[in-house]
Amino acid sequence: MLKIAVLVSGGGTNLQALIDAIESGYIKDTRICAVISNNEGVKSLERAAKHGIPGVVISPKSYDGTAAFADAMIKELEDKEADLVVLAGYLVKVPEELIRAYPNRIMNIHPALIPSFCGKGFYGLKVHDAVLKRGVKLTGATVHFVNEDLDAGPIIIQKAVAVKKGDTPEILQRRVMEEAEWKILPEAVKLYAEGRIEVIDNIAYVNG
Ligand code: GRF
Repeated sequence: MLKIAVLVSGGGTNLQALIDAIESGYIKDTRICAVISNNEGVKSLERAAKHGIPGVVISPKSYDGTAAFADAMIKELEDKEADLVVLAGYLVKVPEELIRAYPNRIMNIHPALIPSFCGKGFYGLKVHDAVLKRGVKLTGATVHFVNEDLDAGPIIIQKAVAVKKGDTPEILQRRVMEEAEWKILPEAVKLYAEGRIEVIDNIAYVNG
């Protein structure tokens, strides 16, 4: 049984996609052992509670420094025996101590086609605003493993989404979520659960 801990900050639509994919049997032999939010009172925690998943708030603001925050996160992950960590709308910089403790075992969903529109300052609506300002015709989403460099870890899956005339950042964000994020994040977790992802020289390959 693969145990995954999902790290969240807000609405949790990607968390919900994972919950639904597990409950429907699309992702087998997997359960969400913890939802960890850096913010109190967010919808993600309500979604977890509704599905009997332990939810906890661990905020970096409650700790004196990155190392103490990392220790608290690692302790929670070990207590819940998490095998895989999934960042789903998580807006906190993952401490290097945590990344080192879970090499190629932390996945992130980014709402663009990395290496475009990613890195420092590119999150949430800011991504889609930049996409529209640049006038690209295709955007999309990327699931990748997390390493020490922001949005630079091995890419697991990407899915393209058309930019349409009249799009606003909000309209485009919704389309990228519906057509890409909510599909490829569960698919990436399914592939991981089935042992079908390998990383060679920082490149991820999907087998079978
Ligand atoms: C989404 O744009 C997602 O791509 C990004 O965070 C935003 C909110 O995600 N990672 P969620 O609804 O909290 O899953």
